[in-house]
Amino acid sequence: MEKAESKEENVDLSNISLRPLELSDLDDLLVWTSDEKVATFCRWDPYTSKEDGINFIQNIATKFVWCRAICLNNRAIGCVSLSSNSDHDRRRSVELGYVLGSKYWGKGVATLVVKQVVKAAFTELEDLERVEALVDVKNVGSQRVLEKAGFQREGLLRKYVFLKGYSRDVFIFSVLSTDPHPSFP
Ligand SMILES: CC(C)(COP(=O)(O)OP(=O)(O)OC[C@H]1O[C@@H](n2cnc3c(N)ncnc32)[C@H](O)[C@@H]1OP(=O)(O)O)[C@@H](O)C(=O)NCCC(=O)NCCS
Repeated sequence: MEKAESKEENVDLSNISLRPLELSDLDDLLVWTSDEKVATFCRWDPYTSKEDGINFIQNIATKFVWCRAICLNNRAIGCVSLSSNSDHDRRRSVELGYVLGSKYWGKGVATLVVKQVVKAAFTELEDLERVEALVDVKNVGSQRVLEKAGFQREGLLRKYVFLKGYSRDVFIFSVLSTDPHPSFP
């Protein structure tokens, strides 16, 4: 990921909010889902049609344990989700994922959102003990987000994810409900 390359638009972080994705977000969602740069470290390939976006809103986002549009002035500029971890009791452990339009990178949006989501998750999801995230070793910006939001880097998983043609080394990060954390209730 290129470091904080886009400075053309200032973001007032007080105008960032989270809400469920709606079909009316389709055009905004296609801005980041069709961007190759955004998709580099993600499990999906860049979207090429409106149908891809509709499928995400109607059939994919609805299957996450928790999913919200990241909004700036109520316009969707990204998405954040919690999904169940098949190796664990789905009530106790979830995997965090997030994505933001490249225009908004490097302005503190993801860090703010991740802190809010962790707080919401441990408040709203009964029995939740652990939020984890898997990050490609090359995705330095995302690792930084997690560190700033209070996650611990637990270790390196070598050749752990096969994605877009090759096996990738990923770091695993987590935060527990019992960890001291500035954004916890
Ligand atoms: C990862 C992502 C969500 C980060 O969002 P963001 O709003 O730019 O993150 P923030 O501004 O809160 O923080 C980014 C931090 O990483 C740093 N950073 C970014 N790129 C970096 C790089 N290549 N090397 C070192 N630091 C880097 C920034 O300087 C900032 O740290 P700082 O505040 O200490 O200066 C965004 O880039 C994104 O959506 N990427 C594509 C999807 C993706 O990779 N999702 C995560 C999958 S695990």
